[in-house]
Amino acid sequence: MTSLSEMSDTFRSLLELCSLKRGETLAVLSADHQRSDHARAFLTAGRMLGANVFQLNLDGSCVSRMALSGNAAAVESLKRADLVIDLIGLLFSAEQVEITAAGARMLMVLEPYEVLRDLVPTPELRRRVEVAGKHLERASSLRVTSSAGTDVTYRLAKYPVLTEYGYTDMPGRWDHWPSGFLFTHGDDDGVDGLVVVAPGDIMARFRRYVVEPIHLYIERGRVVRVEGMGFDASLMRDYIESFHDPRAYAVSHIGWGLNDKANWHHLAITRTRDQEIGMHGLAFAGNVLFSMGPNSELGGDNDTLCHLDIPLRGCSLQLDGQLMVDAGKLVE
Ligand SMILES: [Fe+2]
Repeated sequence: MTSLSEMSDTFRSLLELCSLKRGETLAVLSADHQRSDHARAFLTAGRMLGANVFQLNLDGSCVSRMALSGNAAAVESLKRADLVIDLIGLLFSAEQVEITAAGARMLMVLEPYEVLRDLVPTPELRRRVEVAGKHLERASSLRVTSSAGTDVTYRLAKYPVLTEYGYTDMPGRWDHWPSGFLFTHGDDDGVDGLVVVAPGDIMARFRRYVVEPIHLYIERGRVVRVEGMGFDASLMRDYIESFHDPRAYAVSHIGWGLNDKANWHHLAITRTRDQEIGMHGLAFAGNVLFSMGPNSELGGDNDTLCHLDIPLRGCSLQLDGQLMVDAGKLVE
């Protein structure tokens, strides 16, 4: 059992990275009793730094990205904070956009404490992610290949780049602790090729390592065939079909991980697996993070609820022919 004082000390170091100053206002957004230890520790940490703190606790039926829909008074109170800790996952809802547009910086925190503690960010991680972000912003094409047979190309023109390094000290900027990766989207009709999800790759949604390969044939930004004889392919097909939404087959964000504190084996040994969203795999240094589903996070109009994040290991990723990841290893 982790003590409140240990958590508060860890969270204080995060608030310092977020540049929370004496006299600033820290808001902690929570729902019911979920992550109540996180909330208490953030409030304690904020007080240690001399901030004005408050907690906005929604009732338990509100745990979704739409939790603030139509709740103008709640949105207004968060807009007036300097830093908002989001413990429910607003995730690019209209209300999140409104709050950050008002100048509040926002940090989403969902993982169990053990994962947060293992993946405390550093300025060096930020530097890495920002340098990678510059490369990605300049690129007009992104290609991923692997010895398993992946060869897919993304045309890049329409969408911005989102960097996540685990803290935020700039007004209006959103981030997520823990993280350490970056991504963008290919143009809506600009992704073509084949992705082979290979044994050992991670289906984050299912908290599962893939055992038998899945072949995803992609044409003009959509997965047109999901092939594979094994259970993994049928699980994926069943899950996607359950949404009865053809937009679920769209290719979503693409990017790579840069966090060398993250462990690929984490999912195999964690005790908090059922509470996790899988940030070790998503942020793992040298992964390629392939994704299917929505593009609304970066301003597109596909807001399908079916969202699959699939960290791939051992791939190569190049931007306009320049290697960023070479067979699963970061190119510095
Ligand atoms: Fe995703």
